[in-house]
Amino acid sequence: MDRLSDRTRLIASATRRGRGRRPVSPPIERASTLLSDQVADMRDDSLGPVYGIDGTASQAALREAVADLEGTKHCWLTPSGLSAVTVPILALTRPGDEVITTDAVYGPVRRFLTRHLASRGVTTRFHAPDASVEHIMALRTERTRLILIESPASLTFEMTDVPTLAAAARAQDVLTVMDNTWAAGLAFKPLAHGVDVSIQALTKYAAGHSDLLLGSVCASDPAVAKAIGTTVEDLGLCVSPDDAWLALRGLRTLPVRYAEQARSAFKVAEWLSARPDVARVFHPALPGDPGHPIWFRDYTGGASILGVVLNGGDARAAEAFLEALTLFGLGYSWGGFESLATHETPQLAFRNAAPNLEGPLLRLHIGLEDPADLIADLEQAFAALRA
Ligand SMILES: Cc1ncc(COP(=O)(O)O)c(C=O)c1O
Repeated sequence: MDRLSDRTRLIASATRRGRGRRPVSPPIERASTLLSDQVADMRDDSLGPVYGIDGTASQAALREAVADLEGTKHCWLTPSGLSAVTVPILALTRPGDEVITTDAVYGPVRRFLTRHLASRGVTTRFHAPDASVEHIMALRTERTRLILIESPASLTFEMTDVPTLAAAARAQDVLTVMDNTWAAGLAFKPLAHGVDVSIQALTKYAAGHSDLLLGSVCASDPAVAKAIGTTVEDLGLCVSPDDAWLALRGLRTLPVRYAEQARSAFKVAEWLSARPDVARVFHPALPGDPGHPIWFRDYTGGASILGVVLNGGDARAAEAFLEALTLFGLGYSWGGFESLATHETPQLAFRNAAPNLEGPLLRLHIGLEDPADLIADLEQAFAALRA
């Protein structure tokens, strides 16, 4: 298995599961209670879980597949991508500790850090989204316990030099937790680059169909893994067997969907970059994007989301443009099969320092439609805006 590519491994983990006549996919076992034949069996862990909170067949298969993708044996599932970020932070910090993260961190994570975590005595320092490793490490104090990395960051997609940051943090006994949702566990492998904890919102690419919420938390070091596992246990977190089954089904086709959506997103990004009605496109796979050199060095894929800054105009112009689109859904999230568009300027106001942009900031998520049709749709929306 070790020599196989992710694409093959994600399928082999289905076909190589079990022996005898069996379905390709594991059963969906809905259970709070699992029955035993004898009292002694109820205490025998080798016979599997005795209670549904520990997960049944589909959750176990998903944990194994995500762990394999992330290059470890330790993976936990959480009920959302947001809880996949909050759980390791809760597990690894204590009152008096400090967390460092980017000013462009995913908004609800910022809310968790400044509201829930702060009320429990753990404070956060935010660095500029395009800060160098030296600048990030200069924020460290003797209280710094953990650096939360989001690269590319939300909405403006700044890249961090993760291998260098992970090594610098480790040298100072600071843990690193990375939100790796953008790379879907495929295009970048945080644990192999020295990061301590890699999380994903499986809601996005793994699920791939905008029909469930789920998160994964993976770690290599047994002590870090244990701290996360006991926190999941103490908080009573579990995920439904149906959702796990759907995410597992999504994983089988993840590499082809991801690559195709990245190809289409790149075409759309190139087309948008050349238009006079667009001031800037944020997408690290685009040569010319400030994060491109790091992306080019470390990543094997480009994902499907773009930040698009209109050349002038206000919120009403942004809303008129979005409402003129016929193929893009007006909806939050990304990673699904369908293209989506949102107006994100209001989110920038939550940052310590909002970027100075030429016009409204839109986010486009490129789905599996024909990119030529999506470009034609964008073109007619620009024409409608000008009219
Ligand atoms: C970068 C990033 N991380 C985490 C999440 C949270 O995922 P979920 O919606 O499953 O809570 C999101 C959701 O948009 C996200 O964009």
